[in-house]
Amino acid sequence: MKALMIYGHPHPDMSLGNKTIMETVKAAVPDLDIRQVAELYPDGKFDIKTEQEALAAADTIILQFPVYWYAYPALLKKYIDDVFAHGFAYGSTGTRLKGKTLIVSCTTGAPYDAYAEGKVQGHTMDSYMFPAAQLARLCGMRFGGVLHTGGVMYIPGVSKPEDREPIIKACQAHGKKLASLLK
Ligand SMILES: Cc1cc2nc3c(=O)[nH]c(=O)nc-3n(C[C@H](O)[C@H](O)[C@H](O)COP(=O)(O)O)c2cc1C
Repeated sequence: MKALMIYGHPHPDMSLGNKTIMETVKAAVPDLDIRQVAELYPDGKFDIKTEQEALAAADTIILQFPVYWYAYPALLKKYIDDVFAHGFAYGSTGTRLKGKTLIVSCTTGAPYDAYAEGKVQGHTMDSYMFPAAQLARLCGMRFGGVLHTGGVMYIPGVSKPEDREPIIKACQAHGKKLASLLK
């Protein structure tokens, strides 16, 4: 099974959580293909054909990102808008993603438990990620679900150094769980 990660962190050099997840999955699944959107296309001008070919070659597609305002970061949203295009991903002739699996893998600063009805964030991460689930359905894909780790907030120079280790551990566990879905 060929897996592809669309890595949507807009500031990869500032990441602790998503970087740890990406590296953990790559170590467990060496043939994982990773497209680092911000490094490849800092200006958001995607090579749409190349990206579509990468998607078409995969059996499982992972969207990996930090949640920004309850959604994908803007650059990843633009990637989806531009690359998951009519005639490729959906529409009467847009069948290239049919039968593939889409997985959402994300981190939040707020704790996991805050994402529930009656809690601070009000809704589960499954609810917030409904657009991804419906995108998968419209494109004839199987939605493989949402993997979410909360409490991922480390700001160099601001956070306490001892806060790094628990985040790394939680994100390694996240990465291992994700890798187990790809085997
Ligand atoms: C612009 C912006 C918006 C954010 N919005 C949310 C949010 O809606 N919910 C949340 O729990 N955390 C939010 N966060 C925190 C990020 O999700 C958190 O910093 C990220 O998951 C950490 O991952 P990283 O170490 O890979 O950067 C936001 C952070 C930024 C910079």
